[in-house]
Amino acid sequence: MEPRVTLPLLQKKKERGEKIVVITCYDYPSALLLDRAGADIVFVGDSLGDNVLGYDTTLPVTMDEMVHHTKAVRRGVHHAMLLADMPFLSYQISPEEALRNAGRLMQEGGAEAVKLEGGAVVAPVVERLVSAGIPVMGHLGLTPQSVHQLGGYRVQGRSQTDADRLVADAKALADAGAFSMVLEMIPAELAKRITESVPVPTIGIGAGPHCDGQVQVFHDLFGLYPDRRFKHNRRYAEVGQTILEAAREFVCEVRAGQFPPGPNA
Ligand code: KIV
Repeated sequence: MEPRVTLPLLQKKKERGEKIVVITCYDYPSALLLDRAGADIVFVGDSLGDNVLGYDTTLPVTMDEMVHHTKAVRRGVHHAMLLADMPFLSYQISPEEALRNAGRLMQEGGAEAVKLEGGAVVAPVVERLVSAGIPVMGHLGLTPQSVHQLGGYRVQGRSQTDADRLVADAKALADAGAFSMVLEMIPAELAKRITESVPVPTIGIGAGPHCDGQVQVFHDLFGLYPDRRFKHNRRYAEVGQTILEAAREFVCEVRAGQFPPGPNA
């Protein structure tokens, strides 16, 4: 049996050049499967909103919803690290409120670490959580909770000024004690520069191959939404299509009187 995934293990992986694998997860059966498959971090993202709860963005996701799903995932994770997202407005109001909310994700949800979005501006919050013993992952580049300010889900850090600001943000997060950070939708060369500039592991999504690890959304990886495709995603299964075909077969068989089978079947 592999050892449980801990912060020192993730740090060692960066130092040894071993890639870190992170997959989002929102329920118990999926957690059992991802944990068994050997993911390093099983991550209850606030993408819960647009993947499971039917919202258009992550903005409506509440602390209660995050705690509810984190608890379910907790029951299925025995080896990976369990990371939970801090939803919109759960950490922006004050460091004290952030501490209370991060505490809920850990005490009630069973998370071992939390993630929040933003750069230098959230460094005081990161410091407050870390000083209370809470491991924090940062998130830079395309930060979905700021989708309206960013004007859509688009690549960030293309200009020299934006790229330099993101490098400074990454250093500020690491200096504040973040144990890792997500780099979302930034040019691969910038992700490489950030990965070489900070001592902690970077986890990319749509940020090229040079990050210390990769994160993908469960529903994108396994094709739960057959018509939803992203450039940065590769599908490893077509589960949505499989369920659709199986459900149609069941509908037909019930209507045709073929299910349940008769006594002589
Ligand atoms: O909520 C989420 O799924 C995320 C990943 C895209 C990194 O934040």
